[in-house]
Amino acid sequence: MGKASCLILVSFLIILSFFVAEICGNKQVRALDNFHKSKFREGAQIDRSDFKAQEIDVIVHSQEGLKEKDRIERLPGQPQVKFSQYGGYVTIDKVAGSAFYYYFVEAERSKESLPLLLWLNGGPGCSSLAYGAMQELGPFRVKSDGKTLFRNNYSWNYAANVLFLESPVGVGFSYSNRSSDYATNGDKKTAAYNYLFLVNWLERFPEYKGRDFYISGESYAGHYVPQLAHTILEHNKKAGKTIINLKGILIGNAVINDATDTPGMYDFLATHAIISDKAAYVINHSCDFSSSNQTSECNATSDEVERDISFIDLYNIYAPLCKNTNLTSQPKKTSIVIDPCSEYYVYAYLNREDVQEALHANVTKLQYDWEPCSNVISKWGDSASTVLPLINEFLSNGLRVWIFSGDIDGRVPVTSTKYSIDKLKLPIQTAWHPWFAYGDVGGYTQVYKGDLTFATVRGAGHQVPSYQPARALSLIKHFIDGTPLPNTKRFV
Ligand SMILES: *[C@@H]1O[C@H](CO)[C@@H](O)[C@H](O)[C@H]1NC(C)=O
Ligand SMILES: *[C@@H]1O[C@H](CO)[C@@H](O)[C@H](O)[C@H]1NC(C)=O
Ligand SMILES: *[C@@H]1O[C@H](CO)[C@@H](O)[C@H](O)[C@H]1NC(C)=O
Ligand SMILES: *[C@@H]1O[C@H](CO)[C@@H](O)[C@H](O)[C@H]1NC(C)=O
Ligand SMILES: *[C@@H]1O[C@H](CO)[C@@H](O)[C@H](O)[C@H]1NC(C)=O
Ligand SMILES: *[C@@H]1O[C@H](CO)[C@@H](O)[C@H](O)[C@H]1NC(C)=O
Ligand SMILES: *[C@@H]1O[C@H](CO)[C@@H](O)[C@H](O)[C@H]1NC(C)=O
Repeated sequence: MGKASCLILVSFLIILSFFVAEICGNKQVRALDNFHKSKFREGAQIDRSDFKAQEIDVIVHSQEGLKEKDRIERLPGQPQVKFSQYGGYVTIDKVAGSAFYYYFVEAERSKESLPLLLWLNGGPGCSSLAYGAMQELGPFRVKSDGKTLFRNNYSWNYAANVLFLESPVGVGFSYSNRSSDYATNGDKKTAAYNYLFLVNWLERFPEYKGRDFYISGESYAGHYVPQLAHTILEHNKKAGKTIINLKGILIGNAVINDATDTPGMYDFLATHAIISDKAAYVINHSCDFSSSNQTSECNATSDEVERDISFIDLYNIYAPLCKNTNLTSQPKKTSIVIDPCSEYYVYAYLNREDVQEALHANVTKLQYDWEPCSNVISKWGDSASTVLPLINEFLSNGLRVWIFSGDIDGRVPVTSTKYSIDKLKLPIQTAWHPWFAYGDVGGYTQVYKGDLTFATVRGAGHQVPSYQPARALSLIKHFIDGTPLPNTKRFV
């Protein structure tokens, strides 16, 4: 995963630079510019219409005996733990020969009563194993030697049974034997296949059927999470019964509404003294994000902005950059706040043969390396310009909806999220206040009528649990319990 792979990615996934930036992290300096030039570039063929669930035949295959086969005895380099882990493939399409890879960690305690929580990363094309499991909220993180693991003491399996999914095909270990499938992915197909995955997975783990179920994710999963939730509601409605007991969704630094996400980003960059006020003003007033024909003033300003953001990590504007991507023969001292080079450690770890064997991954010996964000997905067919109508639908269906935001992410920043939520025009139920975790202000929150909670996480970048693991765990516990974030430090 060197510079070369960044370049390849840029060239054919230019349509959605979220890919680009997540894979190359802070080395990728063209992300922002590529994004707004390309999603709306002349002749961009991406369907931006509102999301509709795709009609599919829901085939549930026999999963007899597969759960025990998927049990992970122990991962190479892993410290002792008391919870169970599973990993393996769930067949999505027998004809094409496609399968999704999952990694599942049961709760530390009370696994029988705690809910099931699905976590999705974004991209599109990025792996929930790469980010969610190994760098954010999973039980382990990889040391700088690329072969030993250490505990994340703020793992979300203290709050739930957590399922990580690599989707769609072409992401991580998930694959299709019909290679043309890598060119037909999009939001709609991802939601339909994620649903197929879930019903089959629940057949494999029947003790979780009927369990309270929540879907969470970040970044471009701001599309995946609501779209899957909508798909579940549609299937439940059609069947006249609860097939999947969906109770709520939680999304962070999420792409949810192009029309506000983009101006919100420039406002954030200007108010954080990264770009000039003039640049933000020009972009706001003379660039039309919905047109492919930008003015020369607009183009020049985009170049200026690109220069300003090129040398920082836009995903956490105050974070150090990775200065040396080499592994170390002796592991460096670990820290629970993410090491800026950890993506390289994870890459090395997940490409080890013994690790893949322990995970029951790559059983068909794929011809390419495991990558944190896909190098094989060549096209993305549809990406709704907004998911706000879905959020409204959830609120009227009584689902719990929490939208959080790490407040030092410059890519999908807190301003974008606030502008997007404002578009819903919801009355306020609990006015803005600080919330507390471990005796400090964890962030700020405001609750809207209809059960929508907005919460910032103070001092967190795009990958919130990577930078503020304790605050993130506190947030997820309150979400799962359905209790408001504490407005006093007395109770925490
Ligand atoms: C894909 O092809 C390989 C090799 O023929 C086969 O072993 C595997 O089962 C196929 N995958 C699926 C999901 O059918
Ligand atoms: C995590 O917990 C283990 C076991 O209780 C302890 O040894 C370790 O110091 C803790 N690490 C951190 C970063 O708190
Ligand atoms: C950009 O436009 C938004 C919405 O119209 C406005 O709220 C914001 O203040 C503007 N920002 C700048 C820097 O002009
Ligand atoms: C693009 O904008 C320029 C200047 O505003 C205008 O002259 C030109 O006709 C536009 N081109 C298209 C294809 O709309
Ligand atoms: C602005 O940049 C776009 C994309 O590179 C290009 O198509 C367009 O012609 C440029 N506009 C002007 C006025 O140069
Ligand atoms: C990383 O490793 C390569 C190959 O062993 C070496 O040439 C290079 O100097 C190392 N980089 C740093 C920054 O130590
Ligand atoms: C799968 O295994 C093959 C053979 O060991 C290896 O070359 C390839 O990089 C692996 N691919 C993935 C996606 O894990």
